[in-house]
Amino acid sequence: MNEIVIPVQLIEALKKAQRVAILTGAGISAESGIPTFRDQLTGLWAKYRPEELATSKGFQRNPRMVWEWYAARREKVHTVEPNAGHYALAELARKVPELTLATQNVDGLHQRAGSEGVIELHGNINRVKCFDEGLLVDSWNENQGIPPRCPRCGGFLRPDVVWFGEMLPDEVFEKAEYAAKKCDVFFSIGTSGQVEPAASLARIAHGIVITINLEVESLISPYRYNFNGKAGEILPLLVQKL
Ligand code: OAD
Repeated sequence: MNEIVIPVQLIEALKKAQRVAILTGAGISAESGIPTFRDQLTGLWAKYRPEELATSKGFQRNPRMVWEWYAARREKVHTVEPNAGHYALAELARKVPELTLATQNVDGLHQRAGSEGVIELHGNINRVKCFDEGLLVDSWNENQGIPPRCPRCGGFLRPDVVWFGEMLPDEVFEKAEYAAKKCDVFFSIGTSGQVEPAASLARIAHGIVITINLEVESLISPYRYNFNGKAGEILPLLVQKL
């Protein structure tokens, strides 16, 4: 592993920052054992077709397959733990006056690590809603087939995640956008920046932009800091220096 150097100017800027905004993606949960989407070998979208598993058309075509795929991912999420990257961001919130954390992840690991007020841009795999009515459902009869049925209307149940072609939940994106526009320091962590509108947050971000992922070229400049490396190694080092 290359030695990770956190530039002094960055630490100073973070110490002065009044508002910090963060966007995370699948990469922050990779060290917990959850596969990312676009890794060429291990990524979920390298093995499965997103239009079959992450669109309402795909669900209508094969609801059983889609339900079972998400049920398996939900099981996986329950067997893993937040990692040092998730914990470092929860700690960072205690060190700066205002912090807004928006995630594209549906695994709930930020919350389990102690982050509060997390903006879930793409929903949460632990919640279930009615495909027809869109209302959240807490419990259902397991004996009515797969997918289970909505206890209110009898429609199929589906995960409460945002599929391709669907709108983000009301006001959720506006909150993240506002935080990005108003912040002094913006972090883009573990995301390939290929999915809109989440990716646009890094482009509209005000102030210093820090990017951490395995693909970015390392860079240090007054307004941009790119770290090529693992969030679970870089973030704890950075937060410890504040
Ligand atoms: P991607 O799989 O597109 O990108 C993952 C990013 O994480 C890549 O840039 C990797 O370099 C980086 N990465 C991998 N391991 C890392 C580590 N240990 N530390 C830091 N970075 C690491 O995932 P997302 O950008 O999150 O949407 O994908 C965005 C959306 O596309 C997902 O929310 C999902 C997917 O389709 C929906 O399902 C709606």
